[in-house]
Amino acid sequence: MMAKKSNSIKESKILRQSVANQFVHWATALSVLLLIITGLGQLPLYTRYNVTKLPGAEWLGDYFITINLHYFAAFGLLFAASFHIVYAFVRREFDIFPRKGDLKESYQIIKAMFTNGEEPASDKYLAEQRVAYLFIALTLLLLIITGLIKTLKNVPGVDLGPSLLYWNTALHNIGTGLIFFGVIGHLAAFLLKENRPLLPGMFTGLINREYIRHRHSLWYDKLLLNGEINEINHIESNAQSNQANAISKNSKQPDALNGKSTSV
Ligand code: HEM
Repeated sequence: MMAKKSNSIKESKILRQSVANQFVHWATALSVLLLIITGLGQLPLYTRYNVTKLPGAEWLGDYFITINLHYFAAFGLLFAASFHIVYAFVRREFDIFPRKGDLKESYQIIKAMFTNGEEPASDKYLAEQRVAYLFIALTLLLLIITGLIKTLKNVPGVDLGPSLLYWNTALHNIGTGLIFFGVIGHLAAFLLKENRPLLPGMFTGLINREYIRHRHSLWYDKLLLNGEINEINHIESNAQSNQANAISKNSKQPDALNGKSTSV
C-alpha cells in the first residue's frame, strides 16, 4: 500500500484496491449480471412478457444461447471466487472477512449517518461492508452449489430424484432473488454521500487520503505504523501547502508554489 504523489494534500491518494481485488470485483459483477439476465431467460420470462419483441432482444428468447451464456458466466464466477479465496489465504488478507460484533457496529454506523452522530472508528472496511460481503458471498455460494447440482442433472445417465431436484430449483430461484436484492442494496449504498468517495477505488485503485484518515482511521493508523504511508511528510506537506497558499494569495501568483508536487 502506498500514497501517491499529488499537487496538494487534499488531492493526495492512497492505494486501496489492488489490481487483483479490482479484477475479482469486476469479474464477479459482470458474471453475476450475465447470470441474472440469462437465468431469467430460461424461466422463460422474456418470451412470456414480450421482451423478445424489442429491437435487439430476440436472443433473450433463444434457450440455446441463454443456457450457453449462463454456463459461460457461471465458469467466470467460479474462477473469480476461487481466485479470491486462494489469493486471500496466500496473502493473508482478511480485511473484508466478517468479525464478531459486526451487526451491532453496522447499526451504530447507520444510526450515526442519519443522526449526524459520530461513527465508531473503522478498519479498512466498515462493519456494514463486511456484513454486505458475507451476505453476497453466502448467496453466491448457495447459487454455485445449487447450480452445480443442476449441471449434474443434465449429465446423461444421472438421475437425482424429483424431490432433490424440486428443492434444488427452489433454492436456486431464492438465491437469484437474494442476489438481485443484494446488488440493488450494494449500488444503493453509493447514493449516500458518505460512501461515494469509495467509488474511484474500484476503477483506479486509489482513494482520497483525507477520507481514509477520517472514515477508516484504524486502517490509516496501521498504514502509518507499517511505514506504508508517512505522517511526517503529511504534516510537512500540509505546512508547505498552507505556506504556498498564503504566498500565492499575497503575491497574486496562483499555483506558482501550489503546483509543487508533494509526496504524502
Ligand atoms: C453484480 C454486481 C456487483 C456485485 C456482486 C458486487 C459485489 C461487491 C462486494 C461483495 C464488495 C465488498 C463489500 C462492500 O464493500 O460492500 C464490493 C465492493 C465495492 N463495489 Fe461492488 N459489486 C457489484 C457491482 C458494483 C458496481 C456496478 C459498482 C460501481 C458502480 C461497484 C462498486 C464497488 C466499490 C467502489 C466497492 C469497494 C468499496 C470499498 O473500497 O470499500 N460494485 N462489491
